[in-house]
This record gives sequence, C-alpha cells and structure tokens, in this order.
Amino acid sequence: MPSAKMVRIVRDLGATDEDLDRLRTIGDTLESDPTLPFRKTRTGRFGFDPVAMEVRRLEFQPFMLSTEDDFVRHDAGQVRIFDEIRDDLQLNTALQALFVFKFMVFDGMKVEQRPKLDYDSDRWVCTLLNVRTITDGNLIGEPALEGVHSDGVDHTMTTYLGSENMTEESAVTFLHEMDEVNGTRWHDTNPELVRARAQHREFLDTCLIVDHELKHSVSTLYAVDPDRPATRDLLAFLTRRPVAEDHHSHEFDSPAPHPTMPMAVPLRTLDETAPTG
Ligand SMILES: [Fe+2]
Repeated sequence: MPSAKMVRIVRDLGATDEDLDRLRTIGDTLESDPTLPFRKTRTGRFGFDPVAMEVRRLEFQPFMLSTEDDFVRHDAGQVRIFDEIRDDLQLNTALQALFVFKFMVFDGMKVEQRPKLDYDSDRWVCTLLNVRTITDGNLIGEPALEGVHSDGVDHTMTTYLGSENMTEESAVTFLHEMDEVNGTRWHDTNPELVRARAQHREFLDTCLIVDHELKHSVSTLYAVDPDRPATRDLLAFLTRRPVAEDHHSHEFDSPAPHPTMPMAVPLRTLDETAPTG
C-alpha cells in the first residue's frame, strides 16, 4: 500500500497532521536492542478484541522466536527483553489508525493456519516493534539478519517511517514460496521461489504479508556517505491468534492489560467504513 494512499486512509481513521509529523521522528527515541548491535528497538504487546471491538495495550512479556516459527538466527529460542513502547508512540493518533487499518484488512480473512495457535479464540495478540536499523563505520545494518524467515504469526504488517543517508538499492523486501530454505541469505535465494519484491521508500509505505503462506527476507542497508551513519526506521505489527499450551511462548502470552501504560482504541470493520450508494 503506497504512502499517499496510506496517509489518506489513516487521516480518515483519525490521524492528525501533528501526530503524522511526530511519527516520522519517533525512531529518535529508541535506545537499545537486546541481541543486535546494529539495531535499536522498542516493543509493546497489544490485543485485538473483536467482541469488545477495541484494540488495547497488554502487559509486558518477554519475546521469543524459535526455529519452530521458521526463524533461524543466533538468538532463536532466546528470551529477549526489549525496551517498552511508551505513550509517545501508543497514544499517537496515526499509530492508532494503523492498528484500526490492519484489523479492517485481516478481520474475517481465511489464512493458512500455523501449528500450536488457538484458532478457536476470538482474540488476536499483536507485538508492535519500532525498529531502527543502523549502518555506520563499524557495523553493517541488516534489516533481517536471519535471512529467509517467517515472523511466527498469522499477519505481518510493516510500515516505513523514514531513513537517513540510505542508498536507493537498500532494504528490498523479497517474498518467497514456503519451499525456500530458512536462513538463506537474500542474495543466495532461489529466484524461482521469489513470489514478489517490494521496497519501502516513502513515509507510511506499508506491506501486509500472510506470514504462514509466504516467507520473507530483506536486503542490506548501505550508506550513501560512508562517513555518516545510515538509518532506516520501521514499525512491524506481528499479529497472531493466542498460542496453545504446547507453544514455546505459552508463558509469554498474557491477555492482561498493561498496568501502568493503558491504551484502548475502538475498532471498525470494512463494512462500517464502506461508502454508501
Ligand atoms: Fe520478519
């Protein structure tokens, strides 16, 4: 979904111009990442509740992706503790509109089911990641160091916020058939298994992926001026059904609201929003 369309959609869903402006630079407040030196990340857990028709902030829980999720990396299976997303992002009306947009797109959609998720549940759990990838004199930034992978969810949405000093050919997203081997570097993949490629270039360029039907990879971040850092800022919304009891994230899947940073936003369906006549 290209930038111009997304800006129009989120404005229609309540985003103010001031908040759209603030969202461009929200990455400046990122501080650290638990396992990747070329990245800064904050995360927060949110719950889509189609019965109450709202999305709300959920309490903090550690984060884990494992090889069972089609995620092969040195920190796969490791419990990761990220800095928490704060009110400056979760109360931003443009961010809140992105949640509503995402729900409108995936609500009612039939997708290939993942093992060990509870598809009888009404609820959806969404981990929001605010990520800055950095290439500087010492480190090469890899938006997806893990190569070909899945995010271990049902619906992945990535929304681009901006970049500094990034070359035109940097950070291309490739979508691969499920037969592609996990962990394959983006430049070593089988061209016959590449279903599509896309590149986030403008503010709010957005990509939605059915995460258990196609795998993805992202190419390296290169600097135009090698003497200055290059940065690329992104929001990733990873949404899945709650996990079943035998899933590795079962102890990290609480539905309880966040005790100190509450947030709740009403959801809408496409039917409610469709133009009449
Ligand atoms: Fe991913």
